[in-house]
Amino acid sequence: MAQKVTKIGVLTSGGDSPGMNAAIRAVVRTGIYHGLEVFGIMRGYQGMIEDDIFRMEGRSVANIIQRGGTILKTARCKEFFEPEGRKKAYENLKRRGIDGLVIIGGDGSFRGAVKFSNEFDIPCIGLAGTIDKDINGTDFTIGFDTAVNTAVEAIDKIRDTMDAHDRIFIIEVMGRDAGYIALHSGIATGAENILVPERKTNMDDIITSLLEKERRKKLVNLIVVAEGDEFGGATEVEKVLKKNLPNAEIRVCILGHIQRGGSPSCIDRLIASRMGYHAVESLMEGRHNVFVGILNNKMHYIPLETAVKNKGRISEEWMKIVKILAS
Ligand code: F6P
Repeated sequence: MAQKVTKIGVLTSGGDSPGMNAAIRAVVRTGIYHGLEVFGIMRGYQGMIEDDIFRMEGRSVANIIQRGGTILKTARCKEFFEPEGRKKAYENLKRRGIDGLVIIGGDGSFRGAVKFSNEFDIPCIGLAGTIDKDINGTDFTIGFDTAVNTAVEAIDKIRDTMDAHDRIFIIEVMGRDAGYIALHSGIATGAENILVPERKTNMDDIITSLLEKERRKKLVNLIVVAEGDEFGGATEVEKVLKKNLPNAEIRVCILGHIQRGGSPSCIDRLIASRMGYHAVESLMEGRHNVFVGILNNKMHYIPLETAVKNKGRISEEWMKIVKILAS
């Protein structure tokens, strides 16, 4: 028999992502709709350990659906991975009577939640919030769509100047372990080469094809590289290309954290709202230790343990599409 939750806590953890605020709003308002008391926990697990927790009302989340970042702030908390840290956090929740948690974050945050809920009797529901889209079991993560659109907008601008000067541009996008931002933004901007951590980069092939293009006077070439590509980021790629293409004009742009900020796209607001709503519903139904994912436009509840990074999921077909369309 499911234990009834009465007081729930919500936190954002790990790297922020646009749409986290929309998810917080949905959790708070759905919780209040069901007569629950809802508590905001500041700076992720750090705030749980330090008892930086406050009661939220419907009004606390007014005018935030369109804002990037997270009103609850976020942190990557090492202390929570130690048993003493988790115990402190539990005692703070217990004292306030918080009997359910919604964790908005990436796979590292979910790993923390699994450890916590294996030790203590507090059900945890995860919402996948990461720009990298590197979580198994969901077609979307909160923030990915916005980050990709930010990258596309920036790359389109770079293409104007790159075209004007007949240059090769190497653009580095975020993605320490995953190449989805590189893949999606690269295809959408007509990149000639896309380098992702999931697939081995063959630099010899890239050099050969750039030399061949140089011979036929195709001097404008866009290379999008994920920061975590095993060959290295944009500066590593630049070094090798400069050595092998002495006549080419080569420039680098590292897009960096602009991809993590900004107003969330409509898609991110929608999925964050749906996921936030379902997180509370699932706590009410007695679910625990799952995260809310969307597969084929349907909500799914997936065990938190399985939310590992989906490394290696970029298929050969995707890379073939890149090659054919850029030729
Ligand atoms: O949140 C994911 C991510 O943006 C990665 O793509 C990136 O490598 C990392 O976070 C950067 O983290 P930080 O802001 O802590 O340097």
